[in-house]
Amino acid sequence: MDNPYVFITRKVPEDTIAPIREVADVKMWDYEDTPVPREVLLKEAETATAIYSILSDKIDRELLERAKNLKVVGNLAVGYDNVDVEAATEHGVIVCNTPDVLTDTTADLAFALLMAAARRIPEAQQYIKDGKWDNWSPLLLAGQDVHHKTLGIVGMGRIGETVAKRATGFEMNILYHNRSRNEKAEKEFGAAYVSFDELLDTADYVLNLTPLTPETEGMFNRDVFSKMNKNAIFLNVGRGGAVVEEDLVAAIENGEIAGAGLDVFEKEPIPEDHPLMKFPNVVCLPHIGSASVETRKAMCSLTSRNIRAVLRGEKPEAAVNWNK
Ligand code: DGY
Repeated sequence: MDNPYVFITRKVPEDTIAPIREVADVKMWDYEDTPVPREVLLKEAETATAIYSILSDKIDRELLERAKNLKVVGNLAVGYDNVDVEAATEHGVIVCNTPDVLTDTTADLAFALLMAAARRIPEAQQYIKDGKWDNWSPLLLAGQDVHHKTLGIVGMGRIGETVAKRATGFEMNILYHNRSRNEKAEKEFGAAYVSFDELLDTADYVLNLTPLTPETEGMFNRDVFSKMNKNAIFLNVGRGGAVVEEDLVAAIENGEIAGAGLDVFEKEPIPEDHPLMKFPNVVCLPHIGSASVETRKAMCSLTSRNIRAVLRGEKPEAAVNWNK
């Protein structure tokens, strides 16, 4: 019998795919480190036993219908909104992701973004680079305090808990809103559960960490921004689709909120002339939440182990539709 065939949609470190090479033939799309074109992905899907995907690959019904041999999709992310899980389940395809290994790193980035936006760090660096720093003045580039302020976390999963843990070191008051109560966050980090409206009304920093689902899509809209404080900073480290970006632009333009820190966008990548890039009080990052070398390698290794497990008929470490 032929070996299983695994198509990897992006260049990943060779040492991390050793578990897959043990059990399968592998092809990696490593053409100049560019995303795999849709036609190539569809073609590969026709013969692949496994697809190792990244978050910009659409693993949708069209693809799954063509993928007659497909057993597993190993998505290199904790989020899996790029995969039609319902269609995958109907086609008997297991969908795997990479939770846990990226929790601390993503929480670090969320906190870094909060600090960068609050203390105007990118703007301050640009100020020197532009040759503008010619004297010290009392309110030069003065930002907002982080310590003792109120952080409102929307989406209190593992990453939310870990941000809350970091916030305790800054003696922040921590509020959260989530579909269900999170006892660990309440007991260990003193986070208080509040309604969405109360969080918006009270928080100095509103941090979105929700996954992208039909319920969260576009949830941060004009109405929501108008309920936030004028001195509040909005942060998004979840998915860009949770935000109506033109409403965020209007809220910043009209001074309804004080600024934003964004690691994710409705449509990625964004160009340098994206409307959110024009504001000095908006910090934009290119979706680097989990991007430390250690964590990205750990995510790659976990994806490989997930795929190998399914190909061997074993339970993977992380699957979103495992039901055997
Ligand atoms: C994820 O894992 O979902 C992240 O957004 C990738 O960093």
